[in-house]
Amino acid sequence: MDRKYFQICLLAIVFVGTIIVIIVCFEAKYGIREKVVESPFWQTSVVYQVYPRSFYDGQPDETGDITGITSKVDYLLELGVGAVWLSPVYTSPMKDFGYDVANFTEIDPIFGSMADFDDLVTTLHRKGLKLVMDFVPNHSSDQHEWFQRSVRCEDPYTDFYIWANSSGVDANGTQIPPNNWLSVFRGSAWEWNDERQQFYFHQFLPEQPDLNYRNHLVREEMKRVLTMWLDRHVDGFRIHALKFLFEIEDLSQNEPVATHSGVQDPDDYDYLNHTYTVDQPETLTVVREWRQLLNQYPDRVMMVEVYNDDIDAVMKYYGNETVPLADFPFNFFLIDNLQSRGDLTGESLRYTIDLWLDNMPEGKWPNWVTGNHDNGRVASRLGRDLVDALNMLTLLLPGTPVTYYGEELGMENTFISWDETKDPEGCRWGPDLYQEHSRDPERTPMQWDNCTNAGFTTANSTWLPVNPNYKVLNVKAQTQAETSHLKIYKELAVLRRADTFSKGHIAFPVVTKEIFSFLRYLEGSEKYLLVINTSEEELEVNLHRHANLPLPSSAVVVLRSVTDTSEKTHPGSEVPLDKVPLVGGEGLLLNLQAED
Ligand code: BGC
Repeated sequence: MDRKYFQICLLAIVFVGTIIVIIVCFEAKYGIREKVVESPFWQTSVVYQVYPRSFYDGQPDETGDITGITSKVDYLLELGVGAVWLSPVYTSPMKDFGYDVANFTEIDPIFGSMADFDDLVTTLHRKGLKLVMDFVPNHSSDQHEWFQRSVRCEDPYTDFYIWANSSGVDANGTQIPPNNWLSVFRGSAWEWNDERQQFYFHQFLPEQPDLNYRNHLVREEMKRVLTMWLDRHVDGFRIHALKFLFEIEDLSQNEPVATHSGVQDPDDYDYLNHTYTVDQPETLTVVREWRQLLNQYPDRVMMVEVYNDDIDAVMKYYGNETVPLADFPFNFFLIDNLQSRGDLTGESLRYTIDLWLDNMPEGKWPNWVTGNHDNGRVASRLGRDLVDALNMLTLLLPGTPVTYYGEELGMENTFISWDETKDPEGCRWGPDLYQEHSRDPERTPMQWDNCTNAGFTTANSTWLPVNPNYKVLNVKAQTQAETSHLKIYKELAVLRRADTFSKGHIAFPVVTKEIFSFLRYLEGSEKYLLVINTSEEELEVNLHRHANLPLPSSAVVVLRSVTDTSEKTHPGSEVPLDKVPLVGGEGLLLNLQAED
């Protein structure tokens, strides 16, 4: 009996051993145990920018807040975005609506409490969404304790900001600044401080003194700020105004006049060439320090704000394979190159997309931005008819799309009278010119439904007026409608997860003045063609005539802009590619697999 038992055991051991050997060999050959390298969240997600004052007013007092955002997490989930970038919620006197921070590690009561913030992070994480904070390193508020103590020359804060002696007194007895440097918000970038008897430097408002990054203590403090938020489980940062971090050390140097800019007004920021006050090489060293800090935490993102029409200057912020810096600098070229409908052609779109893809350093990841709280809304800038086409473009290109709240609905700029104007940039230009500069029109409350105040708040008023079009343009209406911008956006957010879009290649088969198109393809996966009519006219396009690569004779419609109601392009129908009907501004997404 014992012997039999022994034999059975032996057989069992041999059997199990053989199975293990087979599995190991199989794994070795086919690599089935090879660890699947997952893409970081910021590559697979749509990043959705929430401007907290305007998203949803949870504790009704006319201004949006954190509990309001938390109560709308399901909306974000259904929308299909993967990460929220939250504009500043830190303690602030709100001179620049949160971009003037009086305490970098506290929440402003207008937005709620730290407990509300933690709850938002937990709720987002529980639902699989990420939270990216705005980080405002270039300056603090003049109400920040550091600045107050710096004014009083209390160490170690004495040199926390950029102080300089006056270069004399003019005939009126007014102190003369050390140089001609200008503020982005117009006028001198120097403000006289009576108490300290010196000027301090501010790239933006006088209430936003620039921090001195040549002082290593400032750098240490700001790293402590980042660490504090990372330890609170935020998933990364959008770093504001990065190019302004350093200025040259020699404050006696004037910046040269930008003779070719055509700007005559000496108070206008564009009057000067900013050779000494932006994109100084030291900035990259600090970004490197932040990168190293973020790398100590898994899967954290660094997206940086750098406006510059010189593509090489922007690309520097990516770093390279050996010295990685930001995960990406925002790609503002779809905004800068396409300021109005007149700028938009198939060719200008192609140029703008190539500009990024062709200049991006090896191994880096692209991103696409069509709007934010500093730029007019897409529907107003380029045209209502283009809303879906541009969402199709940004969500289906290779890379990360960044969507400003309300762009999924095609929200429009709101007219704000001079009396109602709040944006400091608008205010500094005065009643005649404010409309060209104010950023209020794109910051108005999110339009949730057709109730009073667009369902944004139950308070009697809103911090900025609601766009009167809210009665028809709102989340509820677009959810109930058979077709809507919102529904298209949601479909795009799902579609873009398919391998063709997340891993596939891109080609541009037809690009003319009126037509822009790209093909997304990947071996073994569906092949898609996006065709956009950039003109305002209805067209019937023969794609074959213009194509630079072979296209099938027909394709099946997957998605089309809401403006197109033709029977011929109903989703699911087959369209001959030598006769593609497109209404003005339409985006038409076709599946090319059908004929292969
Ligand atoms: C923000 C602007 C702000 C500026 C200066 C930028 O990062 O996007 O809204 O006015 O910083 O604080």
